Amino acid sequence: MGWGLRNRIARMFPAGSGHSVMLAVDHGYFMGPTRNLENAAATIHPLLPHADALALTRGILRTSVPPTTTTPIVLRVSGGVTILKDDLSDETITTSIEEAVRLNVAAVALSVFVGSPHEHQSLANLGELVDDGEAYGMPVLAITAVGKELEKRDARYLALACRVSAELGAHLVKTYYCDGFSKVVDSCPVPIVVAGGPKLDSIEAALTLAHNAMAEGAKGIDMGRNIWQSEHPVAMLKALRAIVHEGATVREAVGTFHAASVVPPPASR
Ligand code: R5P
Repeated sequence: MGWGLRNRIARMFPAGSGHSVMLAVDHGYFMGPTRNLENAAATIHPLLPHADALALTRGILRTSVPPTTTTPIVLRVSGGVTILKDDLSDETITTSIEEAVRLNVAAVALSVFVGSPHEHQSLANLGELVDDGEAYGMPVLAITAVGKELEKRDARYLALACRVSAELGAHLVKTYYCDGFSKVVDSCPVPIVVAGGPKLDSIEAALTLAHNAMAEGAKGIDMGRNIWQSEHPVAMLKALRAIVHEGATVREAVGTFHAASVVPPPASR
């Protein structure tokens, strides 16, 4: 790996814990105005200072994130299909590597759809993006997309998808947590960050997912809906940081959440 590529990766995994809390707000590229992400700028603004990286498309980056930000950007560059289609796997590369460089991002990200109708196409996209990325010192994050079938994706499937992504050259992989997750990590030679998936029933459930993922070898999280669909998004992000960076237990992180979600009383005159 060249210096530029290693430097970009280091920016996303800050010194100290060496882990990362990435904030994912890229859902609109196929889901449209998702709940609590209708006004992306309003959602992103209070969360940005607490994220180690921000994952999004170029459209939301250019319209909704101030160019003065120092937060590393993970730019989604695949797309081309929406939730109105049954098959979400028919993706192509929608943003060039030159555009990613112009936007000064820290990494580019694309989905791979292992086992889906367009498996070959998405894996070919990955190989080409790695070639392009390495020409520019740009890391590639492969996202093992699960379409509408998250509940069917077990450790065997996710280990296959992560390993194939790493074999084709991905520098980082984003996947989902599952029972037996350590097997997924152990057979993937590049760092894994974990998505949250649809909003879970409780704060504890989301924090437990993050805690277990980290305990079983994840290098970080790249979470969206369980943060910004929470009633207290900043508090949720702070609680996740306690787990990822400080090794907090779920109970301690719940305490962090509640402490951070208390609305201070109005100042007395
Ligand atoms: C899908 O749109 C993206 O890959 C998301 O960035 C990823 O699923 C993480 O977001 P969430 O935690 O909401 O699943």
